[in-house]
Amino acid sequence: MEKQYQLLVQLSSIVKPLDLTTLFPQNQPLEVELGCGDASFIAEYARCQPAINLLGVERLLGRIQKLHRKGSQLGLTNLRGVRIESAYFLQYLLPPHAAAALHIYFPDPWPKKKHRRHRLIHEGFPALARLALAPGGTVFLRTDDADYFQQMNEVFSAAREFASVETPAALAAIKTDFERGFNAQGIPTLRAAYQLEGRKQNGE
Ligand SMILES: C[S@@+](CC[C@H](N)C(=O)[O-])C[C@H]1O[C@@H](n2cnc3c(N)ncnc32)[C@H](O)[C@@H]1O
Repeated sequence: MEKQYQLLVQLSSIVKPLDLTTLFPQNQPLEVELGCGDASFIAEYARCQPAINLLGVERLLGRIQKLHRKGSQLGLTNLRGVRIESAYFLQYLLPPHAAAALHIYFPDPWPKKKHRRHRLIHEGFPALARLALAPGGTVFLRTDDADYFQQMNEVFSAAREFASVETPAALAAIKTDFERGFNAQGIPTLRAAYQLEGRKQNGE
């Protein structure tokens, strides 16, 4: 009998790591977007990159349903979504070193000083990213918020196992929903990428 795959991951356990082999029909590199919003970026990226498996993580139901809608409309077999909190997902549900890349675009900036502890990217985040990424994997970051951008760069610059790299132009060209909104108002995208040390599995 042909195996059935679900666009939205039905978690059978929230304490055991996911069995990634059950999620996608093709065994190929996995990239994860944290806080994927309405899936504008990840659905288009999945369409352009059929040889990559893409997993969107989002905590809001209405937004993860948009991922489902877009993935179904485009008939994407390399796109999945999971409704859960991003840091929890990285720490407990993603098998260690399973991701070739993490995409984190316009995470909530929490601009008030007393709320900054809610930011996803803080001094503890590089350790989570290191756990999630395969050797040579990359964290791609975008924001409109200069203060958060500075914090992102500070925490990754302080993590010796990460090195600053360029974002490929073809990746940067795929905009997120929030990015389009900010750019339309004349607010530029602040972009950074940090690569974990080690050789990629394809030897690059
Ligand atoms: C400002 S929006 C950006 C959405 C999308 N990345 C974009 O650029 O269009 C931030 C998104 O992250 C989600 N989010 C915020 N904190 C999260 C968390 N800790 N875990 C999962 N999703 C989160 C929000 O629900 C929201 O959809």
